[in-house]
Amino acid sequence: MTEKTGTLLQDYYANVIDSVGDGVVVLDRDGLVTLINPAAEELLGVSGRQGRGVHFSLLFRGEELLLEMVAKTAATRMIISDHENIILKRGSQPKPVSATTSPLLLASGETIGTIVVLRDLTNVRELEEAVRQADRLSTIGTLAAGLAHEIKNPLGGIKGAAQLLEQELPEGSELREYTDVVIREVQRVNRIVEELLELAAPRKLQFSPVNLHRIIGDIIILQKRSAADRNVRFQQQFDPSIPAILADEPLLIQLFLNLIKNAVEAVGDSGLIRVTTRVWSDYSMTHKGEGRSRMLAVEIHDDGPGIQKEQMEQLFTPFFTTKTKGTGLGLPICHKIVSEHRGMIKAESEPGRGTTFTVMLPLMQ
Ligand SMILES: Nc1ncnc2c1ncn2[C@@H]1O[C@H](COP(=O)(O)OP(=O)(O)OP(=O)(O)O)[C@@H](O)[C@H]1O
Ligand SMILES: [Mg+2]
Repeated sequence: MTEKTGTLLQDYYANVIDSVGDGVVVLDRDGLVTLINPAAEELLGVSGRQGRGVHFSLLFRGEELLLEMVAKTAATRMIISDHENIILKRGSQPKPVSATTSPLLLASGETIGTIVVLRDLTNVRELEEAVRQADRLSTIGTLAAGLAHEIKNPLGGIKGAAQLLEQELPEGSELREYTDVVIREVQRVNRIVEELLELAAPRKLQFSPVNLHRIIGDIIILQKRSAADRNVRFQQQFDPSIPAILADEPLLIQLFLNLIKNAVEAVGDSGLIRVTTRVWSDYSMTHKGEGRSRMLAVEIHDDGPGIQKEQMEQLFTPFFTTKTKGTGLGLPICHKIVSEHRGMIKAESEPGRGTTFTVMLPLMQ
């Protein structure tokens, strides 16, 4: 091999390793770093220059599991993988990763070092959570829908009987107060049952071009009016380049009404609610046969008390509520509407600092 082809080959392999989406770290026999590719630099938060020549125990400091794997592979020449337990504690957010350590072998069989491959699992974990969520919703939904059906008939009977009783009572009778309560409460239960059925039943959507900014603007005007006696401020930041989207308008109204109402309820007597829309340019979803479509994001932010970490998981579960008059069906219905539009919804919250719900919808045109 000439020197020139040797360098070319080296460049070629360096390019290959740099282009791998997974993080690759190569260690020599003494455990010193000889190579870190860009993906590994990002995961570990070090530059190649800083990292080269450093001992692995320093590079992976604090990551006990990873240190053990490297040491074991170096000692035993075994390939070791862990796809579950490793969480890199670098940067602002801990990152779940899968790691594989393998011996670096020459053709002769001699070991000259160790290769560590790290794969960022953040997206995988998010996807797993979304699937679990959908699963949970569908089991609970089916069960609840069965129950709702059973409740609807006797409920009709109770309401009918209360109305008959009311007619029998003389005008101005004090007892009418009680029949009123029965009728009102039956109507409340009926509404819950209907919402539940809506949650579980498959339905046909009516798609038409929808002006998102108009419907969100209308909802804000209505909510402003009903919160007029309190110090609740609304801000809207709309991206004017967002076109009309193909969607089921009444469902989108229900979706944003539920989210904005939750924000209003969260801030209580005083607070700020900000609704932002923008085109999500670096995100696209692929649907079978439809090619790629860009997404738009609507963020509903409030500076209310936020949501406790242990409650975040339950937000979209039917009947989860912390409000005395809540049904806990608002968010599950939002989840269903967003899924029906092939979008995504997520909640982010810092207790004490507020909550942001983000709805992403495909810009289908
Ligand atoms: N913006 C928010 N800030 C803080 N907590 C929230 C927010 N949005 C939702 N939550 C929490 O999630 C729970 C479930 O919300 P969801 O809309 O499903 O039901 P609800 O608002 O309690 O009842 P309903 O929507 O039927 O009136 C709420 O009870 C509340 O604890
Ligand atoms: Mg609600």
